[in-house]
Parts: sequence; C-alpha cells; structure tokens
Amino acid sequence: MTTTTTPKTAPGEGGALAARPPQGDLVTLTIDEVEVAVPKGTLVIRAAEQVGIQIPRFCDHPLLAPVGACRQCLVEVSTPDREGNLKAMPKPQASCTLEATAGMVVRTQRSSAVAEKAQHGVMELLLINHPLDCPVCDKGGECPLQNQAMSNGRATTRFVDVKRTFPKPIAISTEILLDRERCILCQRCTRFSREIAGDPFIDLQQRGAAQQIGTFSPEVLGFAGELPGTVGEVPQGTTADAFAPAGDAPRGPALADESGRPFASYFSGNTIQICPVGALTNAAYRFRARPFDLVSTPSIAEHDSCGSAIRIDHRRGVVLRRLAGDDPVVNEEWITDKDRFAFTWQSAPDRVTTPLVRDDASGELVPASWAEALEIAADGLAAARRSGGVGVLPGGRLTVEDAYAYAKLARVALGTNDVDHRVRPHSAEEEAFLGAHVAGAGVTVTFADLETAPAVLLVALEAEEEAGVTFLRLRKGVLAGATRVFSVAPLASRGLERLSGTLVPAAPGTEAEVLDAVTDRAPSGPLADTAAALAAPGAVVLVGERLAGVPGGLSAVLRLAQRTGARVAWIPRRAGERGAVEAGALPALLPGGRPVADARARVDLAAQWDVESLPATPGRATGAILAAAAAGEIAGLLVGGVDPADLPDPSLATAALDRARFVVSLEVRRSAVTERADVVLPVAPPSEKAGTYLNWEGRPRAFAQALSSTAMADHRVLDALADAMGVDLGLRTTADVHAELDALGPWDGLRLAPPQEPAREPVVVGPGQAVLASWHTLLDAGRLQDGEAFLAGTAKRPVARLSAATAAGVGVPDRGLVQVSTDAGAVVLPVVVTDMPDHVVWLPLNAPGCAVRATLHADAGALVHLGAVSAQVAGPDAGARPTGRRARGATAQPRVPDAGPREPAWGVGAVHRVDPHADHDHADHDHAGHDHAGHDHAGHGAGHDRADHRTDGDGTGHDRGPQHGRSGTGA
Ligand code: SF4
Ligand code: FES
Repeated sequence: MTTTTTPKTAPGEGGALAARPPQGDLVTLTIDEVEVAVPKGTLVIRAAEQVGIQIPRFCDHPLLAPVGACRQCLVEVSTPDREGNLKAMPKPQASCTLEATAGMVVRTQRSSAVAEKAQHGVMELLLINHPLDCPVCDKGGECPLQNQAMSNGRATTRFVDVKRTFPKPIAISTEILLDRERCILCQRCTRFSREIAGDPFIDLQQRGAAQQIGTFSPEVLGFAGELPGTVGEVPQGTTADAFAPAGDAPRGPALADESGRPFASYFSGNTIQICPVGALTNAAYRFRARPFDLVSTPSIAEHDSCGSAIRIDHRRGVVLRRLAGDDPVVNEEWITDKDRFAFTWQSAPDRVTTPLVRDDASGELVPASWAEALEIAADGLAAARRSGGVGVLPGGRLTVEDAYAYAKLARVALGTNDVDHRVRPHSAEEEAFLGAHVAGAGVTVTFADLETAPAVLLVALEAEEEAGVTFLRLRKGVLAGATRVFSVAPLASRGLERLSGTLVPAAPGTEAEVLDAVTDRAPSGPLADTAAALAAPGAVVLVGERLAGVPGGLSAVLRLAQRTGARVAWIPRRAGERGAVEAGALPALLPGGRPVADARARVDLAAQWDVESLPATPGRATGAILAAAAAGEIAGLLVGGVDPADLPDPSLATAALDRARFVVSLEVRRSAVTERADVVLPVAPPSEKAGTYLNWEGRPRAFAQALSSTAMADHRVLDALADAMGVDLGLRTTADVHAELDALGPWDGLRLAPPQEPAREPVVVGPGQAVLASWHTLLDAGRLQDGEAFLAGTAKRPVARLSAATAAGVGVPDRGLVQVSTDAGAVVLPVVVTDMPDHVVWLPLNAPGCAVRATLHADAGALVHLGAVSAQVAGPDAGARPTGRRARGATAQPRVPDAGPREPAWGVGAVHRVDPHADHDHADHDHAGHDHAGHDHAGHGAGHDRADHRTDGDGTGHDRGPQHGRSGTGA
C-alpha cells in the first residue's frame, strides 16, 4: 500500500509564497517624497514600512497571501509610461496587493488628500454595522479597527440608520466564539485556516449584506437553523452557553470528523490573534481582562520541542492568556492551540506549595520546613547511596539549567551514572544515536531548512501531533513547491495528507527493515522515490523519539543518511529532551556529549566540577533503574517531573517507587510519584522561573520568569539538597549554571560510537491478534492539559483504526466497537476503517478512556488481541485469520506471508492518490473549495454591502445607532 496524498491547497495559492521574501533586483520608487529601493516583487505597503510610513490595513498580513479584501490601505499611485511620463492611476490603489515598480510614485494619506479621503470612506463603511461593543469587547485596547478608526477615520459619522445585528456569540468550537456583527470580512481567519494550517473550519458564507464568517454546514450555509449547540460541545456553564441563544446555531452541525465531533483545528487559536477586530474571541478568556490590565512577558512554550515563542499575559499573579510570539526563525507568528490554551496546569489546585515529608506515625505526607525537608532528603539519599545506590530520573520537561543540575548532582553527590531523563520507550541504541549524532552537535537542521529542503522524510514522527509548528513549516515548503514530504508510518494521517505527503508504509516494528529498503536499487515505487528524493542536496530525515522503540530503527536511519547524504534531525516530543541530552542527563553521557567511558572526558569534567573523580561505569537507563529499584537493588530514587503513565510499563514504575527504600520527588503538582515519595520538594512551573529550553534544532530558547513566585527552579532546589548533603553544587542561579557551562566549553574528543543494530524480524501475529501502532495526539489526557475544558473540547475523539480486512476478520464493522486487549487490560473504541496494513491496530496513546500504556501495559510494536465487543456482531475469534502472519510493511491487501517468499511487501503496492473528495472525514474541505469560489464575490460583495449602507459613523468605532434590526440594503 502506498499513498501519495493530494494537496488541499494548490501550490502557490497559500501563504507560503506570501511569506517568502522577494528576491532579485532592486527597484526604486518614491513614497511620500522619500525614495526607497526594494527587491522586485515587494508590495507597496511593505516598501512604505521600510521608510517608516504606516498605511492603515486590516486584511493585510505579512504571512498570508495578499487578498485586497478590506480596501483600507488605499493610496494614490502614479507610474511612468513607456516614454517615462508619470501617469496617475485613475483610482486609489490597494497598497497591499500592488507590487512596487521602478519609478513608481506613491502618495499615502500623509501626502495625498485623495488617499486620505479614500481611507476615511472605507473606514466609514466598515463602521456602519460595527457594534458599539468597544467598552466590553475583548479586543478593546488592542484593536486595529479601534486604533485605525482613530488615526485614519472620520471624526464624525453620517450613518443614521439601524445597525445590522446578529444574536451573539456563536460557538465555532468550544474554544472560539464568534460575534458576527463585529466582523469586517477581512478573511484573515479563513486565509490562515486555508493557507497556513490547511484545515479550514470556517469560511465566508452567504452573500451581500448577509455575508458572514461561519462554520461549514453540509446543507445550506446559513444561520437560520434551529439546532442550537451543534457546533462544538460547549462545557456547561461556559460563556458560550450563557450567551448563545437557542436557534442561533448554524443550520445543521459543523462537519464532523470521523469520531463524530465537529471539526476543529489544532491551530485555531491563531485566528483569534490575527482577527483585527473582536469578532473571534477566546471562550476561556472572554470578559476576563482588558489589555491594559495585563502584564506581558515573552516566554517559550513548554509543550513540545519546537521552542515556540509565546507571550504570557498575566494580572496580579494569574496567567489569563497566552499569545503567539513573533519569531521568524522558529514559529514565525503561529503556535498550536496547546501552546496557547494549555497553561492552567501550572496553577492547578493540586500544586505542591510547601515541602512535604512522610510522617512515620501516620504514613501521610505532612508539610515541613525547607530546612527539615532538605535534611531528611539529604540523609535519606546518603543512606540509600551507601546501601545500593540512588537512581535519578529527572524527566523530559526540564530546562537545560535544571537538567544539568540533575546530571551533576547524580555524579557529584550521589556518585552514580544511573541518571536518565527519558520517560518513554528508550534503548541503548537510542543513547548511542544521541551521543553520536545529537549531543554537542549544535544546530544542524533548522526550521528554515525544512522550507527549502527538496525532500523531508518523517520517521516515527507525526509532525502535526508531536511537533505542531514543524508541521506548519513543512506545509509552507510544500505549498511553495520546494519540499516533498515522505513518511515511514503505518498509515497516512490527516497531517500527512495536508502535506501532500507520500506514505512509505511500515507496520510497527518493521521501520528498520523498510528504511534499509530505501535504496536506489529498490523497484520503482515509494522506496525508490524516497531514495531518489533524499539524494538531492539539502534533503532531511526527521526522526521522532518513537523510533527508539524499534530495534535497529535509529541505526537504519544513520545507514540511510550515509547512503543518500541526507541530514538527520531528531525531534523528541518534550520541551526538555534535547537540553537534557546536552546536559548529560543520560547514563553514558556527560554534559556536551562527553562519553562517560572516556577517561579524558571524566578527568576534564572532574577538574571543572572540582571533584577528584567521577563514576567511570556507564549507568543504567530508566527501565533498568526502575527494574533494579523494583528488585530492591537500588535503594533510593530521586525523581523529577515524571508521570509513571508515560513510561512503557507504568506498573514497573509504581512497583519501583513502592519498593525503593527512599524516594525524593521534585514536583510542581501532586502525582503518582509524590504519593509514594518520602520527601516532596516543590518546584516552580515554567511561568514561575527563568530558564532555557533547547529546541529540536539545538537552538537555545531562553525565557524569563513571568510571575513573581517563591517557588524555586529544580536547579536551585538541587543546589540546596546537595548543600544539605555537604556538596557544593554551585548551581544556585541560572547565571551560575551558564557560567559553568560556558567554562566547560564544547567537547572536542571522541563521541559515542554510532549504533549499528541490524533490523529485527517482525513479530508473528497469531489468531485474533494484531500489532499495535500508537502515538500521542496533540490534545489528549496528558497532565499538562489539565483544567482546560475549552481546549479539551477540541480534541479528537479516540478511535481504533483497522484495515478493512482486519476489521472484517474481527467481525467489526466500520464505526462498530472493537476491544483491544492484553493480559493487563482492555480498551474499547469505535473502529474507523483506514487504508493501512492488515493485522495492525492503531490507538491514540493517551486519550481519555484509552491510556494504552497504563491499561494495556503495551506500546507500539506489541501484540494485542482484537475482539468485537458485541457478541451479536462477532466473537473475538470470528473471521478467518490465518496463523503465522507477519505484520510487516505493508500491503493494502490481506496476504499470508508464510505462504510465499518474504519479498519486501513495500514494493507491492502502486502509488495511488487519496481522493480528498471521497474522504468523508475531510468533506469539509470540499466545502472549503466550494466556498473559495465565493471568495471573490465575498470581497466585492462586502464592499457593495458597505457601499449600499447609508452611514452615520463617527469614524471612531463608537457608532450611535441602536443595536437591533438590520439595514442590509445590499441584500
Ligand atoms: S472574523 Fe475573520 S474575517 Fe472577520 S474580522 Fe475577524 S479575521 Fe476578519
Ligand atoms: S489591507 Fe489592503 S485591502 Fe485590506
């Protein structure tokens, strides 16, 4: 089975081109008597910015394709004719769609009465129906319409009629509310959804005066229906509930995704931010603050390894919202909804606010002073060190400073290399890969490289789910026609479809085998295509952390890179993973990629750390540490931000915590670890400390402390803990850590040898069994999304994916229920029949009701049992399923590998294109396309509507007309 997905937006249509800076020759023009030379292709509005002239605008956005929808940016333009005589254009021109040409003379509102009058006129039209919401509108105080009405509008209004109103707001999703009468139809939101995210969930609907933004309706696009509450699932008691009157929902539900939930986007929050009025608002933030009440602190998002710039807005010690920061080299101006909305976990009611120690008498955790808790922790760890040793599990969400403190404390104060930040499937092969290829390597592949790479191969990585803005960069490259995306995965995800990507199918566990088959000797097909594409200069292989769970996988990636010349970048999920690798929070690696086994590296580091020697034997990895603790071989555990549910075997983790004689937990909130700890030391969440993440590029992403707090960062707590143990860690402040890292410098010695594991035989699938495929979805049951019900409402519902043959074999129809079980437990989910290898089942890794690791004690590549839930439908052994099948990469058809030679199945299928119009899951795109046709009309229609309205706007946004009735003269 091979899939080449088709673009939802034609190359060149999207903002990818808009965002690409013009290249080539310079042209010289004059703007308001100022001569300026700009690259050919530069828009007049940008050229004006370069000489400090601000032309008012609404629809213009530097990262979106020009559209000329609002007409606010009109300027007077003259251009030279063939003889060089300057000729004035007959009407004012939209400067956001007009390219600068040589000799052009532009006069803006600053020097042209014509331009000023035109801008005043447009503003007056925009304000005709704009409501008098400014005093209560979330956008008030930061609203481009409000601001530009003051700077570029009329002083008085001539509008005397009744304003058009709509019942308000309607819930576009649980997270986003729409006040339609505030909308000025600039189409920034719809263009973002279509051009950048590729998942249009709103669009212009209706025509003339009735034109408005709305969700897609499968029937008539309108809002006259009687189905309140069909869009999104608004939590009870929310603003949307309170304000959305019955009968005001769009007619018919928003198009549902395959799980039955109205379709939403992982990037929808960006539309709120770029809406130039208060038409799109955040349900959680609505009416909670005014911009001038807020203190803003630039920061870095903690939810993935992209290191996206954000802005934290807080008031009196409470974070009220987060916005995307503007960082052209990393996230441009976009972030995921998780980065934007998931911050309440940091102030959850279960925050640990004081040190806790376990009371001997009651066995309960009781509050203690810092001095008391540190003393007990230090004594306990020292005793544990003497009687079996201490394992250190920092977790993967730390700053570089914190991870470094764990790495140093383990070696200096606890005398062990048993330290590992990985709280997920991991392997010695992975550590060798990280030591050889990642640690100390610096920035090798960048976001910008992804935009221009001729080919990007994703291996064990769903970019949209696991590294959101990486997906947006890839899409940008794809839409610009520069990049082709390939993915080694068991199925073509919706994200891959929106990248127009080519699936190189691989059943779980067969990735190494498939990667080794990507050669120029492969028969024509996706393997040969991928090999040829990767051979082009600039090609990149992006490897997800999940490949650590596939023996031989990372070795195969390095072999592939060697064969093709492609560069390799590792993209873990958590924000702190890359930094922890650099900091030496691994059993065989010291800071900077120094191998533990290298005597020179140890001597080097011991001198720097002012100790006589460092432990010379590479330590145990997370799994081995937990197994040793569970077996009583390790006496103590020092645990950072670790959730046992993230571990491959959560029960082993809890057994280890239960069995260890002494456990110290550094945590933000109460957890399964704190409940088993002897001492709990509270630490600060990201908004209450300063620090640095290293993003997957290897780029330092420093952030400042946003909130005043007495909570301390991990490194400071560890410094105090070491002090109580009689060790001077010297890491009290971030400056201390930076000074030490600077003094340490880069490592110029040998690195760990790259792994050379062969591919393993795929597992043999028995009757009623399947191989598990699984990964995290962006929004799931993770603890860092706790307390954010609005965001949770936009998450995908969990489903189980099976091929048609596998589903038939189990006796489960599409949308029927399947039970996926192991000896440890079972989950039951609706089935979505998917084009994927047979004898494979895909489950979301940690969705509500589908905690794969905690329930099944299994991970991707494991064997699970399938069964129909209803006996009436089919029993677990129903259907013909031959024994001894191998779940290998990949064929779309059922087959019996044992009956024939083990030819590479990946060569079997011909490339076929997924027809998006045939895919009901994405039927909304059809509507999107349908609506696109209306966009032209939309812009013009909007203009007509406005022109038809008689106006009495005072030009300030403070129209005096009543808030009811309608004046849709253009209808
Ligand atoms: S809702 Fe969309 S079209 Fe309307 S003003 Fe906001 S961004 Fe523009
Ligand atoms: S900003 Fe130029 S038309 Fe809208």
